[in-house]
Amino acid sequence: MKELIDTGNLPKHIAVIMDGNGRWAQNQGAARIFGHRNAIQAVREVTEGCAELGVSFLTLYAFSTENWARPEFEVRALMELLVQSIRNELPTMLKNNVRLDTIGDINSLPGRCQRQLAEAIEETKHNTGLNLILALGYSGKWDIVQATKKLAEEVQKGVLAPGEINEELMAASLSTKDRPEVDLMLRTGGDHRISNFLLWQLAYAELYFYEDLFWPDFRREHLYEAIMAYQNRERRFGKTGEQIKANSAK
Ligand code: IPE
Ligand code: IPE
Ligand code: MG
Repeated sequence: MKELIDTGNLPKHIAVIMDGNGRWAQNQGAARIFGHRNAIQAVREVTEGCAELGVSFLTLYAFSTENWARPEFEVRALMELLVQSIRNELPTMLKNNVRLDTIGDINSLPGRCQRQLAEAIEETKHNTGLNLILALGYSGKWDIVQATKKLAEEVQKGVLAPGEINEELMAASLSTKDRPEVDLMLRTGGDHRISNFLLWQLAYAELYFYEDLFWPDFRREHLYEAIMAYQNRERRFGKTGEQIKANSAK
């Protein structure tokens, strides 16, 4: 299936809501945590799949602001798993030229997680391949609020006039600054919602939902399937189909 992908028309930025770990485990009579543990292989698949194809940015929704409200033992297990996987995957990230970064309220994470992440970000910062961005303690509303605060502070300091605030400045104040907007957003698990993931950045993203696939079962083929669907869509950005066709014929 990979051969059918047009590498000249890849999404630059793919974002993924990795959902369904708990149900995947419960369906086989196991505890939810078992699903989280088996999610690591799927993370490898999507990361390597994107790196091999030449996708530039991959943002993975790993832990939302709202996920803090889960049972304490599940939150603790997820944080522990995060530390372990970052440590274990670091050599592979280095080998695959992957550059790691995070978005979200990183200060809300336990100190051990913050330190492990900081180390991996530092060690991979000169890599030039795929940019892998983990959304941790992240929510789209949080992001918009923190961007607004930054802009308000600049106005208060007198270095910015309210009239100068525009979409560009707003985008540059969000945690995704310097990164392109999302072209393609994937969600496993069967639900059709955004769950407070990237809100601003998804404005014109193509959305792709897997109806019968829980995240631990995600493999490269599923990535290829979504990219092929993406390549068959017409992105009009408000224009007419005729305008788009005339432009692409040039
Ligand atoms: C996604 O799987 C992982 C996180 C949100 C951390 P879930 O844990 O939400 O699994 P389901 O949706 O309950 O099956
Ligand atoms: C979204 O999944 C968050 C992550 C994948 C990290 P949830 O399982 O938390 O979403 P809802 O609560 O079903 O919308
Ligand atoms: Mg879920």
